This record gives sequence, structure tokens and C-alpha cells, in this order.
Amino acid sequence: MKKKIFSACFAAAVSFAPSLSAAPIEIKFSHVVADDTPKGQMALKFKELAEERLPGKVEVKVYPNSQLFTDNKVLEAMLLGDVQMAAPSLSKFESYTPRLQIYDLPFLFRDMEAVERFQQGPVGQGMLTSMADKGLFGLGYLHNGLKQLSASEPLRVPSDAAGKKFRIQASDVLHAQFEAIDAVALKKPFSEVFTLLQTRAIDGQENTWSNIYSQNFYEVQPYITESNHGVIDYMVVTSTDFWDGLDDEVRLELKKSLDEALVYGNNLAEKIAERDKQNIIDSKRSKVIELSEEERQQWVDAMKPVWNSFADDIGHDALEAAELANSNQ
Ligand code: LMR
Repeated sequence: MKKKIFSACFAAAVSFAPSLSAAPIEIKFSHVVADDTPKGQMALKFKELAEERLPGKVEVKVYPNSQLFTDNKVLEAMLLGDVQMAAPSLSKFESYTPRLQIYDLPFLFRDMEAVERFQQGPVGQGMLTSMADKGLFGLGYLHNGLKQLSASEPLRVPSDAAGKKFRIQASDVLHAQFEAIDAVALKKPFSEVFTLLQTRAIDGQENTWSNIYSQNFYEVQPYITESNHGVIDYMVVTSTDFWDGLDDEVRLELKKSLDEALVYGNNLAEKIAERDKQNIIDSKRSKVIELSEEERQQWVDAMKPVWNSFADDIGHDALEAAELANSNQ
């Protein structure tokens, strides 16, 4: 009899199992760029891998193009639990740590290989956890690429930019960089840049080839100077509360999925940059200006003194590590 009752209970429990199973963990991934960019593609790959590895356990919702949060709001939203993952550019963490300001120093990294070496080295890896006390946890880096200057007038030498208004990301280093060439820098969210350019409220902006192309900046900026004067890369972040609250298996599989998605996105970054530069050239909407060695040196000489004002806050160890990364070490 006892056995019968037990079996009946067991059967009932099994038949109720689906309705008792926990709802999937919702992971909102908010970003500000288009899907067809390194970040857009990486986020979609992460969704695919995470949902494949953790079927029914997680649901990743990717919100591109500032649909959910603009870049100056997303980190606050993350700390409030309204979004679980994001990959802001490294320029957007200034109020959480001065360490990441290093990425905005003009003409610091020789090329993207040097950036990669720096990020994978001990100092770069240490920066991932540099905001843990503020509740933000870095899960990895993603490349976009080197920055170019776009404008309504041709910019060949720094004096061409004097008096002109440029949109910048919310970064004091970038502000100082434009001040150093006597230009006016305005901190504005990425989502507002196209309209600011189109209405001529500003004269120019700095960004990567993929952002200039995918946001149609090239359609309203007749000149792009190939200056390669800085970098836009990303840190994928989550909140320590969310991350620590996951069970071990989920956390591990999410991290594995993200690591793979980052490799995928990083492999795409250079190809997308080349493709979008060519797309812009082919469009004939914007003229790409190549600088002579001598012209480029003028930008270096004008902007590089900015380093001195930020070196102490960033930390000299980080600057030394960047130098090593430039020399292939
Ligand atoms: C910008 O604000 O210009 C970029 O950081 C946007 C992005 O995420 O690439």
C-alpha cells in the first residue's frame, strides 16, 4: 500500500515537473552600436552559444543601437539590476576607475596588436577587476579598432581643427586631447552624434571605421582624416551581484560562451574595419584624407603632452606595460 501511495505521489510530482521548473534567467545585453559591427556580432554570438549550452536555463536578449539604454546610463542601470551585461567602450568607465583612462591617451598604442598584448598581459587583466569595489566586474575585452577624425572641413594638421566643435565620449582625457589642439570638445551620447553632425551643431567627431559607416556619419561628414590617433575597444561587464548570484554551472558556461564570442568578435574586428573603410571610399560621400609622415607628426606633437596630466592617476606601471606591448613584449 505504502509503495502504491509513493508511486502515485512520484507520478504526480513528475507530471507537475514542467510547471515547477524554474523560468530561464533573463540576461539583457544592452549596447549602442549596430548589429553589423564587432560588438553587435559578438553579442549575437554570445546569445547563440549561451542558449545552446544552457537550454531552458538562460535567455539572452540583445538590445543594439541604444534601444534599451544609452551609453551614459547603462552602467547605472546595471548596478540597479535593470540590465545584466553590456560592453561600453573603455572611455566610458571614467567615473568608476581612473585606470582605464590609459586607453584614451592619444597615440599611445602603436597598433591593435599592441592593444591586444596589453589587454592580455597582467596589467590589462588586472583592470578587469579594478571596479569590483564599485559593483562592476569585467569579463573580457573586445576590439573595435583605431579612431579616425571626421569633419565638415578637411583636417590635415592640428591647426585645421582649431575653434571647431567635436563630439567626444564622456572622457576627460579626450576633452584634454581636443583642448590641446585648441578645439572645443562636447561630451555627448553616441545615439545623438548623427543628428548633431547632420544639423551642423558640431563640426566633427572621432570614431572607428565601423562606427562611422554603420551610423552613417560618413553621409554627413565630407572629410575623414585617417589619423589612427587612438583606440575604441570595449570591456564586457556585468554586475558583481548578478555574477556572484549565479550557480556555478551557469556561471562557468556563460563565461565559456563569452570567451568564445570574444574570440569570434576579435577576429572580425579588423575585417569589418577594412570593409567599412572601403564602403565609405566607394560611397564617394566622404573623402578619406591620408596624412604624410610630417603631417601626422604634427598631431602627435600637439596631442601627446596630454599624457602628463593623467599619468599619475592612471599609474606609471600601466604606462610602462603599454610601452612593452608596443615593443612586442
Ligand atoms: C562612441 O560612443 O563613440 C563609441 O564608444 C560607441 C561604441 O560603443 O562603439
